[in-house]
Amino acid sequence: MSRLVVISNRVSAPTGEGGAGAQGGLAVALGAALREYRGLWFGWSGHRTDEFTGHIELQRAHGVTTATIDLEDQDVDEYYNGYANRTLWPLFHYRIDLAEYDRSFDSGYQRVNERFAETVTPLIDQDDLVWVHDYHLIPLGAELRARGLKNRIGFFLHIPWPPGRLLVSLPDHQKLVRSLLAYDLIGFQTREWLEAFRDYVVRELGGNLDADGTLHVGDRTVHVAAYPIGIDYDDFMEASRSPLAHQACNRLRESAADRKVIIGVDRLDYSKGLQERFTGYQRFLENNPDRHGELFMLQIAPPTREEVSTYEEIRDNLDGLSGRINGAFAEIDWVPVRYVNQGYDRASLAGFYRAAQIALITPLRDGMNLVAKEYVAAQDPDDPGVLILSRFAGAALQLKDALLVNPYSADEVSDAIKTALEMPREERIRRWRSMMESVRDEDVVKWRHDFVAALEGARIREPEPP
Ligand code: G6P
Repeated sequence: MSRLVVISNRVSAPTGEGGAGAQGGLAVALGAALREYRGLWFGWSGHRTDEFTGHIELQRAHGVTTATIDLEDQDVDEYYNGYANRTLWPLFHYRIDLAEYDRSFDSGYQRVNERFAETVTPLIDQDDLVWVHDYHLIPLGAELRARGLKNRIGFFLHIPWPPGRLLVSLPDHQKLVRSLLAYDLIGFQTREWLEAFRDYVVRELGGNLDADGTLHVGDRTVHVAAYPIGIDYDDFMEASRSPLAHQACNRLRESAADRKVIIGVDRLDYSKGLQERFTGYQRFLENNPDRHGELFMLQIAPPTREEVSTYEEIRDNLDGLSGRINGAFAEIDWVPVRYVNQGYDRASLAGFYRAAQIALITPLRDGMNLVAKEYVAAQDPDDPGVLILSRFAGAALQLKDALLVNPYSADEVSDAIKTALEMPREERIRRWRSMMESVRDEDVVKWRHDFVAALEGARIREPEPP
């Protein structure tokens, strides 16, 4: 079996088998994949240094080697805070109004991708499978090829791929997309993003699409497909049965004192639709005065990417909005919104999900959304809660039995809350069972096996030597 080399912007040291800790779902998923394939995980340490040295920090734990590099200030500003999170993130989430185009970001992004390629190439053996992750590292495959790598290299995009009409607003969009053609396999979360990518390649780059979905552009052949990511089902179920999860569940239940809980858990990101969600909940309170005091909303939103100004602004807006809703509706013994800016470990979240009768997960655009799947997995089979989910999350294509809403419509969100509160137990159980089947069967193990198997089978047809 080939060794697997995973390359992503962020790296988290894997825990032991079944380890539930403060790591996000993806970190746990990749950690488990790497253990299975005796892997190497390479990326940014998250630290800044005065001057880039290329020094690699190696660590071994649980059969996995992590290799990280520090980046210099200018790299972090132009690559991570710049091109990745001020240009590509908003654009790929359909927010061209927020996207910033600045040549210094382009050159910083290119420079860091070259630095990644330069440092990781000596660590890669001839038979390794290489798997690159996410929008930070689109040109990395081309940079690895430029350094002579002949390995199979795959790329997975965790976020949406935007429609061509939006993507063309990016200066040098063709150059960015052409660099993706260096990969053997490109994976997307859903068919929607896959189709948007294919359409772009056919229209803008003159590509041809085979009946089996393979793309040909000039002398390049690239396999493209959708691989919806799932949660680490077994690991999450174990976390949800842990004492920490029970404590968290009891803590929330006791403090709720028979009131129903509507939960939301999201990074504090404008793509998550938090302002629209708060406004939808406010509409519900306005329309249903008889329900006041019966329920409250718990929004957990740990801050993220705080050096980027749009993230500062959304934080200010939400501080204001949650304060205004509480000011307008609270009573001396009831507060309608509990807004918490800290993160929790997965086991505690599992406990909170179980204690909540409704989850309100309404991103304006989301590659997948694993919180929705975790909420489903954490429910009591005899008395499950109701999932209200945005139609614009990748997860909506699998969780068809959620109450699907247009997150921009305060009325739809308000109506869905009312429907969820009134839903009979039999209907809750029926919807939950069907969603649980998908969460269990299409989990992260299936995701990584499908991707790795396709990568093992994929091969660019090298042009014949003259
Ligand atoms: C999204 C991206 C990931 C990223 C995560 C957290 O899920 O797809 O690549 O790691 O957000 O964002 P951060 O900027 O903190 O890494």
